[in-house]
Amino acid sequence: MYRETPKPTRLQDYQPPEFLIDQTELRFELDAEATWVSAELEMRRNPAAKRGDGSLRLDGEQLTLEAIALNGRELVPVEYQLQDQGLVVQRVPDRFQLRTRVRIHPTANTALEGLYVSGDMLCTQCEAEGFRRLTYYLDRPDVMARFRVTLIADAVRYPVLLSNGNRLVTEVLPDGRHLARWEDPFPKPSYLFALVAGDLACVEDRFRTASGREIALHLYVEPQNHDQCAHAMRSLQQAMRWDEVHYGREYDLDLFMIVAVSHFNMGAMENKGLNIFNAKYVLASPETATDQDFAGIESVVAHEYFHNWTGNRITCRDWFQLSLKEGLTVFRDQEFSADQNQRAVQRIADVRALRARQFPEDAGPMAHPVRPDSYIEINNFYTSTVYEKGAELVRMQAQLLGPERFRAATDLYFERHDGQAVTTEDFVRCMEDASGLDLTQFRRWYQQAGTPVLDCRGHWEPERGVYRLEVRQHTAPTPDQPDKQPLHIPLALGLIGANGQALPVQLAGEHSPPAAGTRLLELREAQHGFEFIGLSERPVPSLLRGFSAPVKLRFPYSDEELRQLMAADSDGVARWNAAQQLAERVLLARVAAPETPVPPAFLEAFATALRDPQADPALLAEVLALPSESYLGDQMEVVDVEGIHQARETLMVSIAGALRTELLARYQALQASEAARQDPDLSPAAMGRRALKNLCLGYLMRTPDLDMLTLCQQQFEQAHTMTDRIAALCQLARLRDEAAAASRAEQALAAFYQQWSREPLVLDKWFAIQAQVSTPGTLRRVEQLLAHEAFTLANPNRVRSLIGAFASGNPLCFHAADGGGYRLLAAQIKRLDALNPQLAARLLHPLTQWRRYDAGRQALMRAELHALRERAGVSRDLFEVLSKTLEA
Ligand code: TRP
Ligand code: ZN
Repeated sequence: MYRETPKPTRLQDYQPPEFLIDQTELRFELDAEATWVSAELEMRRNPAAKRGDGSLRLDGEQLTLEAIALNGRELVPVEYQLQDQGLVVQRVPDRFQLRTRVRIHPTANTALEGLYVSGDMLCTQCEAEGFRRLTYYLDRPDVMARFRVTLIADAVRYPVLLSNGNRLVTEVLPDGRHLARWEDPFPKPSYLFALVAGDLACVEDRFRTASGREIALHLYVEPQNHDQCAHAMRSLQQAMRWDEVHYGREYDLDLFMIVAVSHFNMGAMENKGLNIFNAKYVLASPETATDQDFAGIESVVAHEYFHNWTGNRITCRDWFQLSLKEGLTVFRDQEFSADQNQRAVQRIADVRALRARQFPEDAGPMAHPVRPDSYIEINNFYTSTVYEKGAELVRMQAQLLGPERFRAATDLYFERHDGQAVTTEDFVRCMEDASGLDLTQFRRWYQQAGTPVLDCRGHWEPERGVYRLEVRQHTAPTPDQPDKQPLHIPLALGLIGANGQALPVQLAGEHSPPAAGTRLLELREAQHGFEFIGLSERPVPSLLRGFSAPVKLRFPYSDEELRQLMAADSDGVARWNAAQQLAERVLLARVAAPETPVPPAFLEAFATALRDPQADPALLAEVLALPSESYLGDQMEVVDVEGIHQARETLMVSIAGALRTELLARYQALQASEAARQDPDLSPAAMGRRALKNLCLGYLMRTPDLDMLTLCQQQFEQAHTMTDRIAALCQLARLRDEAAAASRAEQALAAFYQQWSREPLVLDKWFAIQAQVSTPGTLRRVEQLLAHEAFTLANPNRVRSLIGAFASGNPLCFHAADGGGYRLLAAQIKRLDALNPQLAARLLHPLTQWRRYDAGRQALMRAELHALRERAGVSRDLFEVLSKTLEA
């Protein structure tokens, strides 16, 4: 908790560290109540840095200093100063050893940063600035040291003692404790340090690298979960192979460990050789985990593993460069998942997530560039912009270079910067040096916030067989950046004919034979005109294929043209996007005028898609899903909360009524093929079939037909997989307040609780489902669930599953016009901020969008925001988001 107004940290103030640390020797005497940390740091003045006043400043928070010695001599109190956030040693020589001993208090650590308790284990989380809660240190990523770590703990309570690198020795001590010593041969910044102590089961496997080295793979979980590790282990092995094949990267230690932890602020953490995971991204069996959970595990396991090269071997100079590791690593995990599953479906999921989270962030008060200029609390900058938009920036460079040159550029990056702490600028320079391209203008993407809008127009000249495409780009001002410059944008496009066939895409003045297919145009100016020649018919342009740039594209398509693209475009992402645009039109028209009839041609397009036996089920499930309520809200000047909900619900009813036969036929065929199997099929194809089946079920449950209710209930009761069980339960729970179905809904929810109350990750789903039901009874039910014996603010997964699911996944109830949803969220954030500021600040995000709503809701939201900010003891994390939200 801060007292004065916190000062921002600025990129322009970056200075290299005055001192370096060559060797870090740590000794932990571990105990949940009181842990002693002794540190021996071999330090020297940095020859590359400006000479300061001769004193040494170390970071440290919430530490009780018990001893300090310089070159073996105990310091007396006048020789150093203890401060709120660190320690200053008045005079130090050019090279010295500093020894400190501090006491810390894990059980009191509810922020889950530093050393904390999760269940019966002890673990650390150091990124970004948590290491300073372990010991006094230069806690910044450009200070890289070799670590040797000794862990001492009670041998019965903590039989497993882990840290980074290789285990050197273990010893039994006479007092009932034992000791393990670890050494990490690779110099690393403090944020990659980790330790774990606990009574954990170890699931072991191996991996043989391309060069023939044997790597031991150890997955540590609480003993009762040892049978839920197979999928994570397989994902790890696949990721290791993939990184060898696609980037030429081998693993570099003989041991790779993953530990699953129940209390975790984020998804997972890439600590060198010892990744620590939110249990949600490790544990899975078909009975407990949904297909989405399986996909999440595959991608997060890969993401953390990929960090070993993009993040650990090459790390960030400072936290403004966070996207150097995160953007690149997200891009790598997205491509891995695309290769493991189905490329277009993966891309659609990634685009949907970008639009759902990053676009609103970029248009709101927290908008910031992929490489931010300043921050108050770095934990607030682990954002969708840094991660997902950052990945789009890497993806655009990969497209501009093409696959061979991009591979050459990443090879160069790994060779040139291995062992260094570098910047996004260093990365882009490798892209340039390996390709010969000039990315000067492209760099603006890293510095300029906001989502560019591409306004396109087409003009057909039948006499000349020429199609002209006008493209203008524009980026609206964001806080602190009133003037925007044109960006270098890769625009992938194709031209299709009336029968869906690919037309040649030949630019005027080009003499090469016309290519049919996708072609990459490069935009650099505010305005461009392109002339496509040699066309025998009026083309429909398929624009932004594969979502080639993170922009909003506008083109005045007729409905007929959108239906053509939806039916026939060769690019799956473009087909999906066309379907979304069609649905969006129908929906927004009905928000404006609820009686607007649903165009028969729209229903026909859906029916045609549904009847197509060739259609891939996974892609079809995406194409036939309506845009979300929040996405629709983003498309409106002022979000019409009730209107959008009504329009979407009634359109679902219309679709269900009109296509009942097709939907039921599809449902039954898919359900029969699933039921025919003995054991659950977890192949991507089977997952796609389940996605389509459950989409059909969602529509069918919008018909008044009681048989559908029975169908759904049967699916709930007889499901082989959690995917099917949850899908059915979601549909039943929606009907809690409807007389005809209420008792069946209550029974299903009660039965589910009965069955799964001892599986925390499944119980999270039970909370989330109820929080997302959009009926007036939900607010009261969420209040009751907050008082449920299984609810606790101490577990972030549980908090997200109830409070997060309600505030971010239930627009109708959260934005209730009486402000009840806002009051509930603010009251919980107030309590949470005292325990876990990082999580409290994240949970606030739905309220940062207050400007998007009508005057009544704006006033209610602002009142809650003000009240939160005026509170004494508000955390830095929350203060920063509140201030920016209220002032922007
Ligand atoms: N580096 C982690 C990742 O992206 C993110 C992370 C895990 C994190 N835990 C954190 C970031 C705590 C901030 C605070 O893989
Ligand atoms: Zn990451």
